[in-house]
Amino acid sequence: MSGAQPVRIGLLGRGTVGGAFLELLSRREAAVVAATGRRPRIAGVVRRSEGDFDEVVADSEIVVELIGGTDPAREYVLRALREGRHVVTANKQLIAQHGDELFDAARQAGVQLRFEAAVAGAIPVIRVMQESLSATEITRVSGIVNGTTNFILTEMASTGAAYSDALGRAQELGYAEADPTEDVNGADAAAKMAILARLAFHSAVSLDDVAYEGIEAIQPDDLAYAKEFGLSLKLLGVAERHGGEISVRVFPCFLYRGHPLAPIEGAFNAVTVEAPAITEITMSGPGAGGTETASAVLGDVVSIIAGEAPVHMPRDRLSVTRDLDSAFYLHLEVADRPGVLAGVADVLGRNEVSVKSVVQWGLGEDARLVMVMHQCPESRFYAALSEMAGLEFLRAQPRAIRVIEEEFV
Ligand SMILES: NC(=O)c1ccc[n+]([C@@H]2O[C@H](COP(=O)([O-])OP(=O)(O)OC[C@H]3O[C@@H](n4cnc5c(N)ncnc54)[C@H](OP(=O)(O)O)[C@@H]3O)[C@@H](O)[C@H]2O)c1
Repeated sequence: MSGAQPVRIGLLGRGTVGGAFLELLSRREAAVVAATGRRPRIAGVVRRSEGDFDEVVADSEIVVELIGGTDPAREYVLRALREGRHVVTANKQLIAQHGDELFDAARQAGVQLRFEAAVAGAIPVIRVMQESLSATEITRVSGIVNGTTNFILTEMASTGAAYSDALGRAQELGYAEADPTEDVNGADAAAKMAILARLAFHSAVSLDDVAYEGIEAIQPDDLAYAKEFGLSLKLLGVAERHGGEISVRVFPCFLYRGHPLAPIEGAFNAVTVEAPAITEITMSGPGAGGTETASAVLGDVVSIIAGEAPVHMPRDRLSVTRDLDSAFYLHLEVADRPGVLAGVADVLGRNEVSVKSVVQWGLGEDARLVMVMHQCPESRFYAALSEMAGLEFLRAQPRAIRVIEEEFV
């Protein structure tokens, strides 16, 4: 197809992903021509040190935004959409914080805004939810959507390393940024879950709707004791439908071996989608990396060139609830004497929290109690926890981590 018509692409940002995208586009040019009948051409590149935004957009049919952050990415993407350019972005913060405004601009201009690379890197989870499962009534989406934290938790579980040492190792290997705050405090995963929830529930979900917690307070012995119960620890995003309401949360939690996300280790990502019609589908793969992310960007570019229809994005908003049921792991350091276990059981019993399993270790004069509770309203569990903090035989602050009870296999 030497006479294939060119399609001009403006590139904003030429860092890790932008550089990999240029390289991949040139290496896979013949494949793009074969799939679409058109030959991709770079109209121009904009970065801090290069290029003029207005000139590049004027000369492009498709704009690829790989700058990151919201300023100036939001302004650039809005202007490109309003000028009638299709946009592809890998920017989760942009979509999670300004999705409504951007999807409106795309709709009004009759162009596409695609963002496959914004969630779970190379895994085509957006396409599957937006297209293959668009008419399926999704009840829950669970995801390990941050590779940095999954690497750190895997390292802590396999070597017994402290959190700070495991984080240092992740930085050495390039899995964590010099400033890892948004990864370890759950904010990065929260942005991705806002995007997945929007697609799953056809509701305008934004970052503000997501309650999130990180992994900074996890202790190596939490992981060690949990092994006794056959549990593994993950930073999980969970978006659920509860009748006419939804919830979207990110929190560290234990999974039993039969959960499809339990075996996902290291920097990998995975997303499980549940619906009555499909039972459960799990997709896993590399969640980051220049080439992997660029591959998802290129897939979006190919879809646009091939003329796949713009996808309708929801404008209605379901209400968000934070009052939910969970099971919990509870770690207590107590005085080792008669009546202590009965005292703990009394507090739990009065708050209607029931114990599924308990293990006790002697520590000289003290003892360590590690318990797993059955599912109950979170408010009841937290009421029991604050009552427990006043018990005179307690030797340290209780530590609690959620547990997902479901097993699929
Ligand atoms: N890296 C990954 O593995 C990965 C994975 C999934 C998604 N993403 C997403 O992909 C996007 C790009 O990430 P990245 O890792 O490639 O970032 P990066 O390496 O930091 O590159 C950012 C690029 O944007 C340019 N830029 C920054 N501020 C700018 C401004 N004010 N005006 C114009 N250009 C500006 C930089 O210009 P200079 O070259 O002049 O500095 C650089 O070329 C982000 O949204 C990120 O969240 C990345």
